[in-house]
Amino acid sequence: MSNVLLVGTHWGDEGKGKIVDVLSENASGCVRFQGGHNAGHTLVINGVKTILHLIPSGILRDNVTSIIGNGVVISLEALETELNDLASKNISIKNKLFISEACHVILPTHVALDIAHEKSLGKSSIGTTGRGIGPTYEDKVARRGIRLIDFYNIDNLRKKLIKSMDYHNFLLTKYYKESPISLESVLESLTPIFENIKDHVCDVIPLILDLNKKSNIIFEGAQGTMLDIDHGTYPYVTSSNTTLSGLISGTGIGVDKVNYSLGITKAYTTRVGHGPFPSELHDQLGLDIAKWGGEVGATTGRARRCGWLDMKILNKSIELNRINGIALTKLDVLDNLDLIKICIGYGDIDYDTFEVDGLEYIELKGWKSSTVGITNYKDLPENAKLYIKAIEELSKTPVVMISTGPARNEIICLKDIFAT
Ligand code: GDP
Ligand code: IMO
Ligand code: MG
Repeated sequence: MSNVLLVGTHWGDEGKGKIVDVLSENASGCVRFQGGHNAGHTLVINGVKTILHLIPSGILRDNVTSIIGNGVVISLEALETELNDLASKNISIKNKLFISEACHVILPTHVALDIAHEKSLGKSSIGTTGRGIGPTYEDKVARRGIRLIDFYNIDNLRKKLIKSMDYHNFLLTKYYKESPISLESVLESLTPIFENIKDHVCDVIPLILDLNKKSNIIFEGAQGTMLDIDHGTYPYVTSSNTTLSGLISGTGIGVDKVNYSLGITKAYTTRVGHGPFPSELHDQLGLDIAKWGGEVGATTGRARRCGWLDMKILNKSIELNRINGIALTKLDVLDNLDLIKICIGYGDIDYDTFEVDGLEYIELKGWKSSTVGITNYKDLPENAKLYIKAIEELSKTPVVMISTGPARNEIICLKDIFAT
């Protein structure tokens, strides 16, 4: 059996959800391993759009068991909302969704701390999703976090919550001058949700290994390489390892279980939130690409910043994630352009002003015709093929999938990824 790691090569929103959905036709398991409901993964099937935040993108397939690994931080309220949304679409999660009992839980105080901290940073804020992701990972590392497993024993949970929420409320009131949050309100809101989902909570490692005996597994990365806490554009990053290393710590599986690493790369680059973005377009063209690409955050509804494909980052990402092949998404968004640039290098980034030295680009001719919905490589316009070839040459990595629209069937597959 063969397993695939899918990882965003830039700052997230590369179209990971769509590619997971396409590949999950031939998989038995789909596993999330880091992040939380800061992610927004969009699937479009038969004209129906579903945005998943916490639940793996394999959930829409009957043949797939969806698993949330220990590296994911769980908001029980967000999980409930997402499950209700799936139920309203008649998508069953019975025997199809399993969540690691070692997942850390996002508390309402984490959300309040995230928002208060961002406010205190003023102009130098990170631009987080405000979902409490950072403070929850902080508590995990500080060994005062609350895990799903703690919900089995309410007395013990209460004791642990007193300790951690005392600390949170101290910070909220004394440091940030915000209102405290009551322990009882947290217990009251979270424990009934846990009761509803507890049949889905277990030790997921044996399950992953068992599924893998029968069929292929997809490991679904969230965010992107440049948002990695260690390797990204720190401090303008998220609080987890979004790269290959996050998969290992966030599931407990061995690196030998990763047979193919697939980098999901948008045909241009976007970023939502603050922080450096060397190839950003600050002009009308950036706004036009955002419009053509529908570049609005799937989680927060914020406008995404747009720019040219950043090859320096792609190459770093290939190295960090041991990427074997690239799934190039949103090629169709560039259909209207006369000229397309690829950023091939720059010097230092100033982390105060976000300015960069010595930006270098190569220029290619656009194809000026529609690629929407093309499913055969040979039907692509010649200049689109040259653009893809340039990416392959500059990255020394094959482009193995090309996405030509948001829908499941708008895809060119050049390789059977699982046949590796
Ligand atoms: P993710 O976070 O990496 O899963 O990506 P998002 O779902 O946040 O953002 C990708 C957006 O682009 C979604 O609205 C997708 O429906 C859409 N999308 C994905 N692939 C394509 C494509 O090839 N062409 C176009 N036009 N849209 C796409
Ligand atoms: P998907 O999986 C794009 C960004 C936020 C912010 C930074 C830190 O859909 O690609 P956080 O709330 O995580 O502490 O915010 O990370 N960010 C994302 N940007 N796509 C995402 O997920 C993101 N998840 C977090 O905008 O800049
Ligand atoms: Mg997204």
